[in-house]
Amino acid sequence: MFISFEGIEGSGKTTQIKLLIPVLQAKGYECIATREPGATRIGEKIRSILLDSSHTTMLPLTELLLYEADRAQHMHEVIKPALAANKVVVSDRFFDATTVYQGYARGFDLQLIQQIHNIVLGGLKPDLTLILDLPVHVGLERAWQRINSRSGELPEDRFEKEATAFHEKVRQGYLTLAGGEPKRFRVIDASTDPQTVHRDVVDIVQLCLVTTTNIY
Ligand code: TMP
Repeated sequence: MFISFEGIEGSGKTTQIKLLIPVLQAKGYECIATREPGATRIGEKIRSILLDSSHTTMLPLTELLLYEADRAQHMHEVIKPALAANKVVVSDRFFDATTVYQGYARGFDLQLIQQIHNIVLGGLKPDLTLILDLPVHVGLERAWQRINSRSGELPEDRFEKEATAFHEKVRQGYLTLAGGEPKRFRVIDASTDPQTVHRDVVDIVQLCLVTTTNIY
C-alpha cells in the first residue's frame, strides 16, 4: 500500500505523517515514512541544491530533471523494496508535486512531464493521495514561521520565496488533479488544528487500508 501526502507550503504534511505512522504501527502495519526530495543519500544532496534560494540562476529544466533524478533514486532504493516487502509506504510528496509545481505553476508541458513519469515510475502510482488544502496566505505564514525558527541551518526557502500567484497555481493544480482522479485523491481541509486534520487523515487511510489490503 502506497500513500502520498501533497499540499502547498505550510499545509502540515510532515506533521500529519508523524502523527499517522504510530497509528498504523499500533494496528500492526509495517510502514515507512519517506519524502521527496531527499529520501536517499544522493537525494539529500539533490534536495540541498533544489531548495537553496541562492541558486537564482537554476533553469526550470534543471529543476524538473533534478526532481526526477531524485525520484528515480527514491524508487530504486526505497519505494520498490518497501512495497515488495509488503510495507505501507507513506511519502511526503511524490510525482504529483512535479505535475503541479513544474507543470501547472512553472508552465512545463504536462504531456512532457507525463512522459518522464512513464520512464521514472514505470506505471507505479500511489494507491491513495491525500491533499492537505488550505488558503495560500495561511500556509505561507506557517511555512515562514517554521523557516525563521530554524536558526543555524541553511534555510530551504527557494519555493517559499516565489510570488503568491505561483502558490495559488500550485493549490489550484492540486485541486484540478484531484477532480480528474477522484478514486485516488482525497482533499482534506488543513486550515484547522493538527488533531482535527489527523482524525480526517486516519478515517480516510483506515478505509483505504480495509478496501486495499483486507488485513482488518
Ligand atoms: P517540502 O517543503 O514539502 O519538503 O518540499 C520541498 C519543495 O520542493 C516544495 O516547495 C515543493 C517542491 N517540489 C517541487 O517543486 N517538485 C517536486 O516534484 C517535489 C517533490 C517538490
